[in-house]
Amino acid sequence: MNIIDIIEKKRDGGVLNKEEIAYFIQGYTRGEIPDYQISALLMAIYFNGMNSEETVTLTEEIIKSGDTLDLEGIEGIIVDKHSSGGVGDKITIILGPIIAALGLKFGKMSGRSLGFTGGTIDKLESIDGFKTDLDYEDFLKLVDGIGISITGQTGHLTPADKKLYALRDVTATVDIIPLIASSIMSKKLAVRSDALVLDVKVGEGAFMQNLEEAEKLAEEMLKIAKSFNRNTRVVISNMDQPLGKAVGNSVEIEESLEALKGNWTSDIKEVVYTLATELLLMAGKAKDEEDGRKQIDQVIRSGKALSKFKEMVERQGGGSSFIGDGKLSQAKFNMEVLSNEEGYVTSLNARAIGKASVSLGAGREALDAKISHSAGIILHKKIGDFVEKGEVLAELRTDKEETLLEGERNVREAYSYDKEEPKKNKMILKVIG
Ligand code: URA
Repeated sequence: MNIIDIIEKKRDGGVLNKEEIAYFIQGYTRGEIPDYQISALLMAIYFNGMNSEETVTLTEEIIKSGDTLDLEGIEGIIVDKHSSGGVGDKITIILGPIIAALGLKFGKMSGRSLGFTGGTIDKLESIDGFKTDLDYEDFLKLVDGIGISITGQTGHLTPADKKLYALRDVTATVDIIPLIASSIMSKKLAVRSDALVLDVKVGEGAFMQNLEEAEKLAEEMLKIAKSFNRNTRVVISNMDQPLGKAVGNSVEIEESLEALKGNWTSDIKEVVYTLATELLLMAGKAKDEEDGRKQIDQVIRSGKALSKFKEMVERQGGGSSFIGDGKLSQAKFNMEVLSNEEGYVTSLNARAIGKASVSLGAGREALDAKISHSAGIILHKKIGDFVEKGEVLAELRTDKEETLLEGERNVREAYSYDKEEPKKNKMILKVIG
């Protein structure tokens, strides 16, 4: 067997068998097959897809590329969550402390930014000293002891995904169902959990552009979950515009803090409450949806969820003084984007905002690029808001002054207006599983 034959087979629309999938995953993980050949194969998969059997096999092989964690010794019910990726998606950072404050164990391995979407690990690293490379023992200790830890994938967990994920990020091969499904599910299945909720984002700011595609991704992931016997539900949520007001890294941590203090934007609140309720129901900790929502209200009002967040930050080595005033390090340059139109905002292109945030420095444009933690965008106007000519639409933050003018143009162009007030889109489109 050789990699050129495998690329050719997929390029010509063939179905890869178990041996072929194992061959390229193992060869790539060991560094025997170079990036350029895997890039070609990814592009062939992008255009010709993979059937469900290939996708399950790919997931299995990615899992086999590294260790699996059984989290032995942890008392109680372990829950996990994953998002298919969006713009301004800071849900994990808010959901985790809430869930832990409610007595479930939240042990989550998160990723970095991918394409125009942000990553929880990059966001958390904007907290001074916060460690995202915990070893297995420390991760276990925290999940068991305080009920929460959010860390990066340990080096030995799904190393094939780590390499593929980074390569897809810079070869325009992210938004394809079998690759997203196997990437997400391999990471989730490599670590034991008793209940798993998957947040599939749909819309302009997501890899899945319409409900039909989102349902296909959901079904593909549920099929994989079933073949591994993992208790899983999928929530399909709207990502037509960025979630909340902040897009970037430190700015999203600041917005998460506000949410944990009870100062929510309605879209973030709806997604957090839905995901948390599904986990409580799956874990048998809530009688019904209403009961779940009440329990969440309580840990927010009492400050327990915020204390959990603080505890996690401190135990993972982060400085927690910012929790009081809610401010992390600030970018060197700021610019306000002013509207040159008047009317109701009818759309706010989340993908364009995500890309603008990457250009300001908040994401990566090359494999080894360094990101800026303080770069990002604060949206002052969102869909449904009325805007006067000359009013502030958004604020840009960056450490690279030369990116401001292009950022200003891109953000301004992401907005569309009309005289009529638009109907509000639903945030939660479906719960499956
Ligand atoms: N999130 C992942 O973990 N992998 C993907 O491919 C997309 C989103």
